Amino acid sequence: MHIVAFATGNPRKAEEVRSILRSYDIDVEVVKVRKIEIQDDSIERIAAFSARILARRIGKPLVVEDTGLFIDALKGFPGPYSAYVYRTIGLKGVLKLMEGVEDRHATFVCVVAYCEPGYRPIVFEGRVRGRIADEARGSFGWGYDPIFEPDGYNKTYAEMGVYKNEVSHRAEAFRKFANWYIESKRV
Ligand code: IMP
Repeated sequence: MHIVAFATGNPRKAEEVRSILRSYDIDVEVVKVRKIEIQDDSIERIAAFSARILARRIGKPLVVEDTGLFIDALKGFPGPYSAYVYRTIGLKGVLKLMEGVEDRHATFVCVVAYCEPGYRPIVFEGRVRGRIADEARGSFGWGYDPIFEPDGYNKTYAEMGVYKNEVSHRAEAFRKFANWYIESKRV
């Protein structure tokens, strides 16, 4: 089993990442450092910047992840501001913004940034297209899970349970990372 440090304060996220990486024989050691988030329109730059600073601070390689929900009809909002929007107007507020909106397409984007102290971060991206549900559904999820229906399923992430980890934006990004990590002989 290979252990990689993962900076997150979100236990649900850590649980998902563990389940995604299990088949690669990689586990994560959760590092509870305060994520340093620069304000930027690109979640890739946010994750990369944070990974670089934190790797230097803890003195070992680590992984940082940043996620955003980009809604087409809102020109990509909340995107990099997804956490702030969730904390403030919440799911109700987002559904209100989408009231009467026909085009409900959205993309969940996850960026994983891996960094060794003193080196440039390497990033991996996962994207899932889907739509914003008309109302919140499902009780398994967290964050925006109850209002996001990935394309090809008539269920929200929150209705899919652990199956979310087979198809999610996070699964795609972390699988790319895991393949690279193993191939580049960091294990
Ligand atoms: P962060 O990258 O952890 O800062 O996440 C940004 C926002 O998106 C937060 O409000 C999270 O709750 C939400 N979020 C991140 N990942 C997911 C997910 O897989 N499902 C639903 N919401 C998510």
